[in-house]
Amino acid sequence: MKKLILGIETSCDETSIAIVEGEDKLLSNVVSSQIKIHEKYGGVMPEIASRLHVENINIVLDQALKEANVKLEDISAFAFTRGPGLIGALHVGAQAAKTLALTYNVPLIGVHHIAGHIYANKYIKEISYPCLALVVSGGHTELVYMKKELNFKVIGKTQDDAIGEAYDKVARVLGLTYPGGPQIDRLAKKGKPFYKLPIPHTKNPLDVSYSGLKTSVINIVHNIEQKGEKINVEDMCYAFQLRAIDLIIDKVILALKKYDDIKQVVVAGGVAANSYLREKLPLRVNKFNKQIDVVVPPMWCCTDNAAMITILASKLYEIKKFDDLSIGVDPNWSIEDALEII
Ligand code: KG4
Ligand code: ZN
Repeated sequence: MKKLILGIETSCDETSIAIVEGEDKLLSNVVSSQIKIHEKYGGVMPEIASRLHVENINIVLDQALKEANVKLEDISAFAFTRGPGLIGALHVGAQAAKTLALTYNVPLIGVHHIAGHIYANKYIKEISYPCLALVVSGGHTELVYMKKELNFKVIGKTQDDAIGEAYDKVARVLGLTYPGGPQIDRLAKKGKPFYKLPIPHTKNPLDVSYSGLKTSVINIVHNIEQKGEKINVEDMCYAFQLRAIDLIIDKVILALKKYDDIKQVVVAGGVAANSYLREKLPLRVNKFNKQIDVVVPPMWCCTDNAAMITILASKLYEIKKFDDLSIGVDPNWSIEDALEII
């Protein structure tokens, strides 16, 4: 019988269900985004997110089964995002997966959201180890060293805001809608070098800090407004994007110098959709060392989706990393603790 894994992602504002056959044959990946609703509030409202997951999950499930042309009784295991994420939102996916696993008497697999983002790269290329994963999302900014399969060591991280969070906050100050990342990315292309932003420093050279950068933008905007003038939004987007992305690429190069056995760099998380990062990272890594491969996930699996959860769950199924029905969600689950369980 062929292996079919169904995975559920509800960690933030996307209700998503995917079905993978075998190791990585994606049969369906239905994503129902709540962005239009949260846009009104300038960010994700956790309570609303949970309610919308409850309302949408059955519709998304039906659609995922229909597109994959499979039935619930054909599924070999049900997977769900166990964390990190919004607690109420995570519970919706967890309860759905548990109910299905119990009803159909098949294994249950809790998946780490960030590890899922990293494994999304497998839709493009096999991961070669040792690997460096650049995790850049709305909630996380980390450099993860993977000596081997399913082995995660955080070697650098943000000391304050995540890069996506900084994009979203700066966008709000500039009067742009949520999520701000894609908007800043688009407008930065029309901007020119004008505003000067500082380079943030951290004690550990592999760490980053984005809160100071965000504050500098806020200060410049306020100063200009106080003079009764208007900020040039495109030029500020240009300045912010350049600093924010160059900063994290500098850290990747530093990490490659320190960990000289790295064979591949993979990018993971919503900010992997950023056009400047996608263009610049391979150039900089290539300039540093032509032997190091750079993999950027396709646009469709940069932001949250269940395909990434399901491809990792399929790997976990192989090593029989199953969970008990009593398992809870973990909104602050660290990727290094996920290793202990794996
Ligand atoms: O991974 P993700 O979907 O959610 C989390 O797990 O956090 O990432 C969402 C983040 C948001 O902050 C959004 O603004 C950012 O990814 N983002 C971008 C771009 N597309 C999405 N940031 C910069 N440039 C983009 N093109
Ligand atoms: Zn994510």
